[in-house]
Amino acid sequence: MSLAIQQMFDAISARYDLANRVLSLGIDPSWRRSALRLLAPRPGATVLDVATGTGDLAIALSQAVGITGRVVGVDLAAGMLRLAPAKAAAVRRRAAMAALGWIQGDALALPLASASFDAATMAFGIRNTDDPLGALCELRRVVKRGGRIVILEFGQPRDRLFAPLYQLYSRHVMPRIGGLLTGAAAAYSYLPRTAAAFPCGTAFAAWMREAGLARIVVRPLFLGVAWLYRGEVL
Ligand SMILES: C[S@@+](CC[C@H](N)C(=O)[O-])C[C@H]1O[C@@H](n2cnc3c(N)ncnc32)[C@H](O)[C@@H]1O
Repeated sequence: MSLAIQQMFDAISARYDLANRVLSLGIDPSWRRSALRLLAPRPGATVLDVATGTGDLAIALSQAVGITGRVVGVDLAAGMLRLAPAKAAAVRRRAAMAALGWIQGDALALPLASASFDAATMAFGIRNTDDPLGALCELRRVVKRGGRIVILEFGQPRDRLFAPLYQLYSRHVMPRIGGLLTGAAAAYSYLPRTAAAFPCGTAFAAWMREAGLARIVVRPLFLGVAWLYRGEVL
């Protein structure tokens, strides 16, 4: 399964950012900014971004923690990761930011020492893993006691009027436009299909508790299209 996921993201990597911007109607960067605000890392912190993809959240994190901090982005797909250093270098030319490292690795077996990060994030990645609870446990393992973990993931909107409209959009429009932009329509029917089935809200919060996280915060974004979660390592 994870090989298929890796190949899928490698195949769409070159147009991934463009497809995100178009399909989210330009909203997805604001969701990552909300994740950053909810994490609120302190200057100088060491932060891990798992399923970092092309690195947008990791880059934003490295600006937030500043030059005394350190950020590591981990992703399964080398094709996605390959795009991140140039994006980071472009930002570094105009803004102060922490040292950034990129590692190819699996969220279910992070190649990182236990309790080695002050905080961690995972944006739109946990749904793609074979074992979301296992991924949460791995995040908890590598974060120090008292550290925060923020997860951003798709879910299902519940609004009576908006939910059917979103379903039409995600089932019929998204695969067509995603296919046109990336040449991989299957990837963009996979996205709404997995999002429609993925536990969100209190159901996902229960997994966070099971993984040993506490002080859970749950926030719907854009009427529940996406969800933000924060937990603390005890
Ligand atoms: C939808 S993208 C999200 C990328 C980025 N976080 C963002 O916000 O744009 C999902 C990413 O998860 C990665 N991924 C999927 N399964 C993974 C796993 N088991 N371990 C690490 N990364 C994984 C994919 O390679 C892909 O880059």
